[in-house]
Amino acid sequence: MCGIIGYTGQREAAPILLDGLARLAYRGYDSAGIAVSDAGGHLLYCRAAGKLEKLIEKYQSGAAFHGSAGIGHTRWATHGAPCEHNAHPHFSYDGRVALVHNGIIENHRQLREELTRDGYVFRSETDTEVVVHLLHRCLAESGSEAEVLRMTLKRLSGSYALAILFASRPGEVWAVRRESPLIVGAGYGETFLASDVPALLPHTREVYEPAPDEIVRLAPDGIEILGEHGSAAPPRLTHIAWDADAAEKNGYGSFMEKEIHEIPGVLRRLLAVREPILPPSIAESLTGLVFIGCGSAYHVGLSAASFGETLTGLPVRVVIASEFRYHPVPLSARELVVAVSQSGETADTLAALREAKRRGAYVLAIVNVVGSSIAREADAVFYIQAGPEIAVATTKAYCAQVAAVYRLFLAIAAARTGSGYAAEISAALDSVPDAVETLLGERDTIRSLAAPLKEKNDVFFIGRGADYPACLEGSLKLKEISYIHAEAYPAGELKHGTISLISRGVPVIALVTQPPLAEKTLSGVEEVRARGAEALVFHDGEVPIPPGISAFPLPHVHPSLAPLISAVALELIALETAELRGLDPDMPRNLAKSVTVE
Ligand code: F6R
Repeated sequence: MCGIIGYTGQREAAPILLDGLARLAYRGYDSAGIAVSDAGGHLLYCRAAGKLEKLIEKYQSGAAFHGSAGIGHTRWATHGAPCEHNAHPHFSYDGRVALVHNGIIENHRQLREELTRDGYVFRSETDTEVVVHLLHRCLAESGSEAEVLRMTLKRLSGSYALAILFASRPGEVWAVRRESPLIVGAGYGETFLASDVPALLPHTREVYEPAPDEIVRLAPDGIEILGEHGSAAPPRLTHIAWDADAAEKNGYGSFMEKEIHEIPGVLRRLLAVREPILPPSIAESLTGLVFIGCGSAYHVGLSAASFGETLTGLPVRVVIASEFRYHPVPLSARELVVAVSQSGETADTLAALREAKRRGAYVLAIVNVVGSSIAREADAVFYIQAGPEIAVATTKAYCAQVAAVYRLFLAIAAARTGSGYAAEISAALDSVPDAVETLLGERDTIRSLAAPLKEKNDVFFIGRGADYPACLEGSLKLKEISYIHAEAYPAGELKHGTISLISRGVPVIALVTQPPLAEKTLSGVEEVRARGAEALVFHDGEVPIPPGISAFPLPHVHPSLAPLISAVALELIALETAELRGLDPDMPRNLAKSVTVE
């Protein structure tokens, strides 16, 4: 979703803003813009629809301006088409206030009518533009920018991260957030703001996340928090320990490729963490678990649910967060709600978490981004520590979250009864990173398996038991980055309708990693082959496959842990297919890394 960047210091602002926007591009966007305040206090801007290159080209071929304070924005369209006049920054009609915004102003229609009655003329279809006119109107009533901001915020409902330039305050950038991510960073003689850490890493690792509606003034000499009665205590900065390479491709062709190759290391780190994932007192008294998440994060819960039920004997439900928030799923006080989110900012998951808490549930968050809203609002948080995930499609965070959920179930089993099965899985988990490494050594074979897919319009995935959620995840990966229509089915379900879509040449990818179910899934494979499908089977190396079927043996792991290995195999299939189709796997069309709107 939208990305925000801001800078003030001694250097030229525009190149820093453009570089920051490039580092936020992974969040997904369809137009971009920057504004800079020059030495004379004038606010100058450049905006363009489409990719950042368009903005850079426009800036360099004529619009180039100078100034050492500025703001920038990548927009993921919600209200109004992705065109130049809807791109941020937006300006007051006299050009004295410029603003960029991430989030949604929910009462924008009502405010637009009110401001129009007051004579304000709107130049965009965005919800954002009301904020800049409100600021302008309040400026007529109060000379203090902090007070103007406070008056404006009182009128807004919805979510926002705002960065603002006032012509009256050259060299300063003002910021405020509610529900949308925003961090500020302190350098030497310069300060920054951004939606996310990767944009700041080249400049500083000392950051502060403003509390909701806290008004922040950035100046070259520091960050000031403005309370009702003037300057509050200086912000307590947090040091970001990520290494500077974490947000670079380091020789890989794409971030997605790099992140898949990081999976063994991420899993090793996660398995070495010794802190309890859940307070034992909570684990002992549980009567069930409910997982909430969106997209791949929803598949995390599905992937581990049947394993968790077998291991703990507790019922496990998995609910899509956007459904949970409006559908009153029965919840008992002793059920654990587990919110799964890489970004920790997904609006639907955050709302579902709040709904669960409102209904008295204890919520554990499994999150990657430290300090994110979901992490902060949950009762307990387990950080997967996967490092920054830049590619839009989640890979390393997905695997780390599945592994974290396995560890959660093992901890619950240990606190309740303990079991031989738990000890067996616990030991088996340690072999998974090596197995993933072995699989990554098979890139060439996987690329050749992906080659026929690049010309196809539809791909079907089938699997039984733990293989089915892994198929759901594999099909999501394939469709989101290769734009090939893909669907996943429990292998026994195809003949209840969907088999009518199977005809000569249609690819069907089958996962066969569960020995007791192997024969059954292979019967499904024969059924689709009999109708002309091109079947490709990914199987556990120890499960025999009849001759004549195109098959790839996955490195062997305990069958309960196979979803971790098949996830990586299908991530590679999706990556190779996207590349073979000449697509950029990191930034699929229409998608955003962090979905901060409903
Ligand atoms: C798919 C993908 C998305 C996310 C979903 C939730 O590859 O990345 O489906 O899993 O948008 O995001 P988080 O985990 O940040 O809540």
